[in-house]
Amino acid sequence: MELQLWPILVSLLEKLNSWMLLVMLVTFLLITDFVRKRRPRNFPPGPQLFPFVGTIVDLRQPLHLEMQKLSARYGKIFSVQFGSLTFVVVSGYQMVREALVHQAEIFADRPNIPLLQEIFRGFGLISSNGHIWRQQRKFASATLKSIAVSFEEKVQEESRYLVEAIEEEKGQPFDPHYKINSAVSNIICSITFGNRFDYHDNNFQELLHLLAETLLLIGSFWGQLYNAFPLIMRWLPGPFQKIFRHWEKLQRFVKGVIMKHKEELDQSESGDYIDCYLKEIEKFKGDTSSYFHEENLLCSTLDLFLTGTETTATAIRWALLYMAAYPHIQEKVQLEIDAVIGQCRQPTVEDKEHMPYTSAVLSEVLRMGNIVPLGVPRMSTSDTTLAGFHLPKGTTVMTSLTSIMFDKNVWETPDTFNPEHFLENGQYRRREAFLPFSAGKRACPGEQLARTELFIFFTALLQKFTFQVPAGAKLSFAFTLSLTRCPRPFQLCALPRC
Ligand code: HEM
Repeated sequence: MELQLWPILVSLLEKLNSWMLLVMLVTFLLITDFVRKRRPRNFPPGPQLFPFVGTIVDLRQPLHLEMQKLSARYGKIFSVQFGSLTFVVVSGYQMVREALVHQAEIFADRPNIPLLQEIFRGFGLISSNGHIWRQQRKFASATLKSIAVSFEEKVQEESRYLVEAIEEEKGQPFDPHYKINSAVSNIICSITFGNRFDYHDNNFQELLHLLAETLLLIGSFWGQLYNAFPLIMRWLPGPFQKIFRHWEKLQRFVKGVIMKHKEELDQSESGDYIDCYLKEIEKFKGDTSSYFHEENLLCSTLDLFLTGTETTATAIRWALLYMAAYPHIQEKVQLEIDAVIGQCRQPTVEDKEHMPYTSAVLSEVLRMGNIVPLGVPRMSTSDTTLAGFHLPKGTTVMTSLTSIMFDKNVWETPDTFNPEHFLENGQYRRREAFLPFSAGKRACPGEQLARTELFIFFTALLQKFTFQVPAGAKLSFAFTLSLTRCPRPFQLCALPRC
């Protein structure tokens, strides 16, 4: 009897031990989590935090709308935590301006967002910081400015290809997504790679699909989960693993282009962005403080390809959708096009001055389209105070551009597509509290290019076609949140005007 009891007793003790161990481990993890997540003194308030997960939000809802709800409850500045990431969310024009413009130096950095960190490794334009970023940004802005004179010509030429591609549809229903993305991407490809691609080029289409899917995954629930729990997620299978495979392919393509440029580099010609960069690498050879090297060239080029394609193409897709939804507005734009440009020549940037209604429509597209709803996160470079709250060095700040675009105190009809928001006595009205390209040190360097593309592509399309919702189809403004807020796939008919 005694002999039989002994093993039972030992196994009971063993079980008790593992239970105790488990309890101790959980207690330890809870305490570490509590200490790590404790809000510093006088930190912006926020919803209750739960162990490990932090703030609980409805993940079925788009993040920017969940942030709007929290702002209504906690005010223009509040904090949230997603797994290991803490964010301070800043809302409203005055508060965003206070952070990005009045404290421009302090909020000039980007935080370490795990997915972006893994793909860009701190290089390039979007996710680099400090000296690397300053050098890359200065070079990119100067180079874009120096080739800005040819933007207009490039966009005019490309708009002819786009019109031809849409003519091929013969007025039948079609999804304009990849035709528009191809046209817009061709502009940034001409600037960076020095050439455009045929819309039927399979490699080009594959690149565009890889890019779109990568951005969709980064902005998806899986992307958010990865950013919140990178140490665990890195080892798990899931759709987010495609991000790295796709990125690898995009990198391989751009590396090939860089290699070809190196072989054919002509020092005496001004060339494209990659040529200019390769010459800069040559110029700074031997300078140990220089960050002009091929890794930065690769990442900057991919940054421009990514930002230069998705944002503007998304805006144009929204523009066509709104035109199909509001035929009376489309008609007014076409009347202005007919009066100022006519049917015999292509639109130019100069025409914009004489087209207040079209300009107002495009601004309203940027407002309602709300292309980058939460901006791109920033990080404080030193301790600071915002709206009386203490933000320690290294605090990540999300600027809710959504709160500016739909502010009830600024816009007469915030939730309605209404070009009158940007008109006064028949003239274009500039609105101060309107920041689609953000503000401050890291404001979008592609704004001028984007505005040129938006105006010329949009007017060239409406000069030639009237966009309509296909008979029997239901129009929807539903969207998906990738890095941009893009309309769900939709079909339109493009009816030739003459
Ligand atoms: C409708 C079109 C566009 C919109 C709405 C838009 C909007 C934005 C916004 C909100 C940011 C974040 C700025 C911040 O951190 O405060 C940004 C950054 C950026 N954009 Fe754009 N953008 C557009 C087109 C473009 C184009 C055409 C290019 C390419 C030339 C471009 C290149 C960039 C780059 C490189 C950054 C990162 C800048 C940095 O971190 O220093 N964008 N954009």
